[in-house]
Amino acid sequence: MIYLDSAATSLHKPPQVAEAVAEAIRSLGNPARGGHPVSLAADRTVYETRRRLAAFLGCPRPDHVIFTSNATEALNIALFGLLGPGERAVSTDLEHNSVLRPLYALERQGLELAFVPADRQGRVDEADFERLLTPGTRTVVCTHASNLTGNALDLARIAELTHARGALLIVDAAQTAGVLPLDMTAMGIDVLCFTGHKGLLGPQGTGGLCIRPGLELRPFKRGGSGVHSYDPEQPAAYPTRLEAGTLNAHGLAGLNAALAYFSVVGRESLYAREHARMEAFYQGVRDIPGVTVYGDFSRPLRAGIVSLNLGDADSAAVADALATDFGIAVRAGAHCAPRMHRALGTEEQGAVRFSFSPFTTPQEVQAAVEAVKTLAAE
Ligand code: ALA
Repeated sequence: MIYLDSAATSLHKPPQVAEAVAEAIRSLGNPARGGHPVSLAADRTVYETRRRLAAFLGCPRPDHVIFTSNATEALNIALFGLLGPGERAVSTDLEHNSVLRPLYALERQGLELAFVPADRQGRVDEADFERLLTPGTRTVVCTHASNLTGNALDLARIAELTHARGALLIVDAAQTAGVLPLDMTAMGIDVLCFTGHKGLLGPQGTGGLCIRPGLELRPFKRGGSGVHSYDPEQPAAYPTRLEAGTLNAHGLAGLNAALAYFSVVGRESLYAREHARMEAFYQGVRDIPGVTVYGDFSRPLRAGIVSLNLGDADSAAVADALATDFGIAVRAGAHCAPRMHRALGTEEQGAVRFSFSPFTTPQEVQAAVEAVKTLAAE
């Protein structure tokens, strides 16, 4: 099988990741729940992963890296922990349902919401951020890159506009952590939400949020913490405040191994490979008659995604043909990004998404281009 669905989850991981998970399952106890060696070993693994992530993502304090099961949980913690009725938030048409659904739930509780519109290529205009950031706007929440078009936003510029109005910036980096340059301090991001199983090349069930020191989030869940057990309140200190319940130390051991791999190989070189595969595919399909490609390919930084349609063919039927006749795995349909589809005009058809990884080969790209040519000719 040719796997071109890395935006859903990375399939090819450094072998050390699986080895670390297997070793952790055999050897780790419950982190922060005991003083015996296997509990302490789990604690050390979790702490080391926090430390590596803080360094990797530019979070000033490892104890402000909060672990969750995925980016969706991290976004729920950030949004429900910071936003409330009577406030105003600005978001964008690029968002995934992991941002939209929590925002809509908050809107039903009295949050005022405004969306920066996207055009037919999924681009946004900075002037719209400025226009919608009216006095009293408390938060901007936006993705770093669309999971449908791959278009990336200029976060440093958005942070500048956001902070100029005294608002906070929450970022969904589900598609970009481990892929694009991300330094929350240098870029002015207040809360950075990420997943471990996509660009970071770690296991599913890992993710988290990095919080700028000084920012106080209300706990989203409450429960066992291993400390202050007689206190009826969730402990106030990060990370415990937001991490009730046993952590996924086994998965975090895998993520730790993935981060160790990044420190040897370098994010830049992995991105260069992924970007080259994406670009080769884009150049190969863009002029095929009957193919419509979505997104802005004019900027150097973007996620490794090319979404397209063939004429008016249903995207799910095209994805099925790619899988059945060519052994190529892609994602079709709505991609949990309803506003993005409305902006692109693909609400009914959906789109066929090809997403690349540093481990995609030039031969796989060529095979995918040939498959698109064949299906387009049909
Ligand atoms: N959010 C993931 C995707 O875009 C699952 O496919």
